[in-house]
Amino acid sequence: VWIVDNLKDLSLSYPQIAQAAAKLRENEVVAFPTETVYGLGANAKSDLAVGKIYEAKGRPSDNPLIVHIATKEQLHEIAAEVPVYVEKLIDVLWPGPITFVLPKKPGLSDRVTAGLDTVAVRMPDHPLALAIIKETDLPIAAPSANLSGKPSPTRAAHVYDDLNGRIAGIMDGGSTGVGVESTVLDCTQQIPVILRPGGVTQEQLESLIGKVKMDQALIEEGHTPKSPGMKYTHYAPKAPLIIVEGSLTFFQKTIDAARREGKKVGVLATKEKAESYQADTVLVCGSRDDMQTVAAGLYDVLREFDAAEVDCIYSESFSNKGVGQAVMNRLLKAAGQQVVKE
Ligand code: TXA
Ligand code: MG
Repeated sequence: VWIVDNLKDLSLSYPQIAQAAAKLRENEVVAFPTETVYGLGANAKSDLAVGKIYEAKGRPSDNPLIVHIATKEQLHEIAAEVPVYVEKLIDVLWPGPITFVLPKKPGLSDRVTAGLDTVAVRMPDHPLALAIIKETDLPIAAPSANLSGKPSPTRAAHVYDDLNGRIAGIMDGGSTGVGVESTVLDCTQQIPVILRPGGVTQEQLESLIGKVKMDQALIEEGHTPKSPGMKYTHYAPKAPLIIVEGSLTFFQKTIDAARREGKKVGVLATKEKAESYQADTVLVCGSRDDMQTVAAGLYDVLREFDAAEVDCIYSESFSNKGVGQAVMNRLLKAAGQQVVKE
């Protein structure tokens, strides 16, 4: 795997961008940063190239991919219909962490859409991603650049740990900013439905276009998610993770009980509370005062627990407001929905 180091100064990076684009045009797979998480890109028109994504990640073939574009014109080459409310959202939110699910036009590899008649499209807000996509002059299919089931990568080192030897290259652009994936919005109906909460919040969407629903499967158990990817266990660290809801005393009692059983206990904490815990490994994901920092640090901390070799992880809980909705969605998935309440 070739790695291009810290591409901070894009004006000096043209040869590397051209090299990455050339590999993509040759139907190889290349990882690059976006504003949310690192993506694993491939030519969305080629069965061969898209097949390499599924192979490298060990991804189930019924889980469709997001197509990444660099210009608004590309959207109309891919989507058969674009509702007026999507046009409105795009004007304000693209490039940015929101993906629209729309009826598809022919032309993409069927493997991108996993046999569905819709396609997911997004324009990432990252200069390196945009430059690479523009240079290829292709729509680029890109899932998160992790092994299937592992937390999404927010640093090039995460991609390397998971995919070294399985992909052509990694473009290192430093840490990604948002830290959780894009919001996936089903736009095939009159009222759009959030299939995956993410970087753009429900509040933001509603302030722009009015009512936006949440997929029922995100609210109650027993519903099949409309986004195929949401049915898989995701984001999971090696040790079992349990979310704790209650006072600090209750939290500490929970830790103590596990330690009495001889377990090495990890705590996923915020800056505000970290010093209150007596445990084996306390890792801080961010600050409660700014949920964006929690989103940005979450996946990195989940991966760090693997390195710390703890036997179990207890996590603080967060409110569902704003980007907290995406954070709690990922945490609950990482925990296999396990929550202990005081
Ligand atoms: O932020 C992101 O979205 C990142 C970066 C790399 O752009 N990408 C990402 O891709 O998270 P991935 O493959 O890890 O997640 C794509 C999600 C999955 O849950 C998948 O099931 C859903 O989007 N999806 C893709 N196409 C769909 C479609 N046609 N209908 C419903 N859901 C779809
Ligand atoms: Mg993913």
